[in-house]
Amino acid sequence: MSTLVVHPLGKTPLVGSVPVPSDKSIGHRALLFASLCEGESEIRSFSHGEDNVSTANAMRAMGAVVEDVDKTTLKVKGTGLFGLRAPKDALDCGNSGTTMRLLTGVLAAQTFASKLVGDASLSRRPMMRVVAPLRARGAIIEGTPHPKKEGDLTPPLLVGPLPSGKELSELEYESPVASAQVKSAILLSGLYAHGTTWFKEPTLSRDHTERMMHALGVPLRTVGTAVELDPAGWSGKMPGFAIDIPGDASAAAFILVAAQITEGSRVTVRGVGTNPTRTGILEIARHMGAGIEVVPQGDQAGEPVAEITAWHQPARGVLIGGELVPRAIDEIPIACALAVRAAGETTIRDAEELRVKESDRVATMVHVLRAFGVACEELPDGLVIQGREGPLTPATIESRGDHRIAMTAAVLGLHGSAPTRITDCDCIATSFPRFVGTLRALGARIDVE
Ligand code: S3P
Repeated sequence: MSTLVVHPLGKTPLVGSVPVPSDKSIGHRALLFASLCEGESEIRSFSHGEDNVSTANAMRAMGAVVEDVDKTTLKVKGTGLFGLRAPKDALDCGNSGTTMRLLTGVLAAQTFASKLVGDASLSRRPMMRVVAPLRARGAIIEGTPHPKKEGDLTPPLLVGPLPSGKELSELEYESPVASAQVKSAILLSGLYAHGTTWFKEPTLSRDHTERMMHALGVPLRTVGTAVELDPAGWSGKMPGFAIDIPGDASAAAFILVAAQITEGSRVTVRGVGTNPTRTGILEIARHMGAGIEVVPQGDQAGEPVAEITAWHQPARGVLIGGELVPRAIDEIPIACALAVRAAGETTIRDAEELRVKESDRVATMVHVLRAFGVACEELPDGLVIQGREGPLTPATIESRGDHRIAMTAAVLGLHGSAPTRITDCDCIATSFPRFVGTLRALGARIDVE
């Protein structure tokens, strides 16, 4: 398992223009929908992060033909909505909660049985949030009792089979959490259901599934935070498609914040997806007074894309909470790095969902920040961070197998008074395989051991 040794930047600024990997969330959906389509699809700008590869392998195991055309292009021959076949082995979702939860929605409607497994981190994550509403529409799903949360389930999940002749029923479901994974699982199951699917969430989570379904002619309507899928009169056929996946705003955030907190820096990231359900971090940065400019570059696959430039200027602490949080949920760890270099106090609230990510990101961030000598307080639903001037205490950080924690620690390590060591960093490849190379291209010194 690799260790990163991050050397302090000292007076060296980060300068340059770099790409980021393609959007992981859109990549999962492109693979899933292409596999369920009739005929051939082409997925371009695909960056082979391990999480997306888990989805590709699962779809292959059920009969979709997923082939590499070149380094970044995939050809997918779909099975049609009703053409999936029983996988021979358990479907390994690796570290990817999105793979497991979205697939559960599809598998719940199949007349074959399947088993979903994951790595140690995924095997601790709560699954009842998708299992309960799917069971409510007739799905048969079993899991392992959650060791800490009574009534919840963890993987492995045993899904189906739905008895032949039986269909999933209609569903009206108001989710207690704003979660695109839950929403997507329910909508995917709705493709197979007899009757309408109505889903509402407390605030809007990322809407890539809705955008893709809409583009593929699925009869879907959205009103505010509610979405309705009524398959009556729909052919059930989705045509093959071509998609250019935009750059991942979540990956870009690490690079942009690294520039924003480092004196003299100016960095541009090209082709970044700027779907408003994903750009909470840009609003947080603006709100804090950090240097940021977004130049729209049009649309790609029904998703807005922009060139984003970030630079250093003094920032101040703010209060982050409410509907902004689901739109920045994966970027809260790196927003903490911005808070460390801002004047005064930053408070993050309404972020209890962070506790059920690849690690408990509230507890893990508190541990990381304290290791760097930053004063902070843990709250049930977030944390309070005191901004700090001058070099940070050099730290040894254990990533706890969480890619976004490892990358946040690496960005903070650029400001250490001596090298910072971050252990267990293989996880970075789940979302940003070229993270180290990208930072090096901008002027950082990072060794991989
Ligand atoms: C994702 C949704 C979010 C996010 C995850 C990707 C998706 O999870 O944290 O990284 O692609 O649907 P939740 O739906 O659990 O909030």
